Amino acid sequence: MTDLAARDITDESANDIDAILAMTNTDERRDAILTVQNNADAIFTWNYQKGERPRLNKLYEKAKHSQWDGETDLDWSIDVDVDKMVEEMSITAEVQNAPLTRLADEPGSPFRNWGDKEWHELGVESLNWQLSQFMHGEQGALIATAKIVETVPWIDAKYYAATQVMDEARHVEVFAKYLDTKMAGNYPINVHLQALLDDVIEDSRWDMTYLGMQIMIEGLALAAFGFLHMLTPEPLMKQMLRYVMSDEARHVAFGVLSLQELYEDMTLAEIQERQEFAFEAAVRMRDRFLRQEVWHRMGITDAKPIIDAQLNAAPEEKEFQRLLFSKIVPNCRKLGLLDAGEGWLREKFTEIGVIEFEHLEDTGAEFTSYDLESSDEEMNAAASAAGHRH
Ligand SMILES: [Fe+2]
Ligand SMILES: [Fe+2]
Repeated sequence: MTDLAARDITDESANDIDAILAMTNTDERRDAILTVQNNADAIFTWNYQKGERPRLNKLYEKAKHSQWDGETDLDWSIDVDVDKMVEEMSITAEVQNAPLTRLADEPGSPFRNWGDKEWHELGVESLNWQLSQFMHGEQGALIATAKIVETVPWIDAKYYAATQVMDEARHVEVFAKYLDTKMAGNYPINVHLQALLDDVIEDSRWDMTYLGMQIMIEGLALAAFGFLHMLTPEPLMKQMLRYVMSDEARHVAFGVLSLQELYEDMTLAEIQERQEFAFEAAVRMRDRFLRQEVWHRMGITDAKPIIDAQLNAAPEEKEFQRLLFSKIVPNCRKLGLLDAGEGWLREKFTEIGVIEFEHLEDTGAEFTSYDLESSDEEMNAAASAAGHRH
């Protein structure tokens, strides 16, 4: 599995297309299991003082009352017409594919002979791929929060994390069922996403699991689910995402509330390690959206011009990718990660064009807008950065 090994991300390598492409996953090499070494200690605590951390305790009480059942609360009898859904979402795809359609005019382009049929197929494959990555990411969250139960030293956090393990099991379950019964199978995990999950699981420091999973991966997922929920016309997918998001907002809040306390007492050197970890995670998440596995399945042998076109698209064509950071940046700010060490992370987020989100409401404060009792309008207002833009 050498090409699954994480590449070290430095300033020079972050935009190295060959390095990005050297990491691939294909259907042919799909294994049934993957073993990742967890290097963290399991911690018992003998301090059972419930509510010592009131905000975590409140979150735990809320989680107990917010459980739902993926089998019975979602209407699985709904017939899903994937072609129709992709057709109806084609405006979004057009924006996302703009750098690619431009590429189609170039000599030797992989899209040279593509007609409506192929572009439609790309839409279907991309949707399947996206939901597959959500499913794999949910399993990552399931494993990461099981790890947090073991490694966090605070009883209130262990209690809360235990509820999240159940939430994540339900999320894996519903995404897997949707892919299995409403779409045609699924995609293997994207290698950049896997590398990020490996980092989160392997690290011996318990707070890195929180930073990688609760702040970065779940922050991005919350924004991505919000988009898809707004854009999809398909009622079952809409319903499924609505339920999942009601849990996810709590998960991101759990990360913010826990790390806030811990980071207050950290040295600058320790904080700088967290800044670097956060930025590496951001680069891996950017790379995961390059859809490498889709190009492979569409029969394109040399994806380099496609990766290049996507990475170097005009800023307005990257609006979607930028908006995915609308939850991450304000939460990093709340944790003091932007400005520590002479603003290293602020500079990095400025370089990748996402710093403008820093003053949006952080998830530690806004998570109740996602409750199932809230209206779709309330939730969309919280979920959409556009609705908050000053
Ligand atoms: Fe989840
Ligand atoms: Fe989650």
